[in-house]
Amino acid sequence: GFPNLTDSDWRWGGEPETIKASIMGGRHGVMPAWSEVIGEQGVADVAAFVISKLDDRPLPEGAKADAVNGEKIFAANCVACHGPEGK
Ligand code: HEC
Repeated sequence: GFPNLTDSDWRWGGEPETIKASIMGGRHGVMPAWSEVIGEQGVADVAAFVISKLDDRPLPEGAKADAVNGEKIFAANCVACHGPEGK
């Protein structure tokens, strides 16, 4: 879950000044915590939606998650920041 420092995709800006600021000052994200809102099964369901529908990857074998429900959770809670394509 850590950013790749070699792929030219910078979460906080890739200019020398912003990289220096990241290293010197650290970064604190604004991603809200969701487990209290959508529950543990909701987290599993929305993760299944992200993996299978947005990223087009197979779910781990035996995953107990409902991507259809996850899509509803995503539309209600996540789309405002991440957009419909999960960007
Ligand atoms: C208020 C805006 C906001 C909402 C709403 C939001 N997110 Fe995020 N999310 C962010 C931000 C900003 C980051 C990047 C955090 C960072 O850089 O530390 C992030 C990061 C993430 C990441 C990590 C991505 C990575 O590359 O490591 C995941 C996974 C994620 N969000 C999923 C969700 C899901 C699922 C929901 C809905 C349940 C959601 N987010 C709702 C703002 C939001």
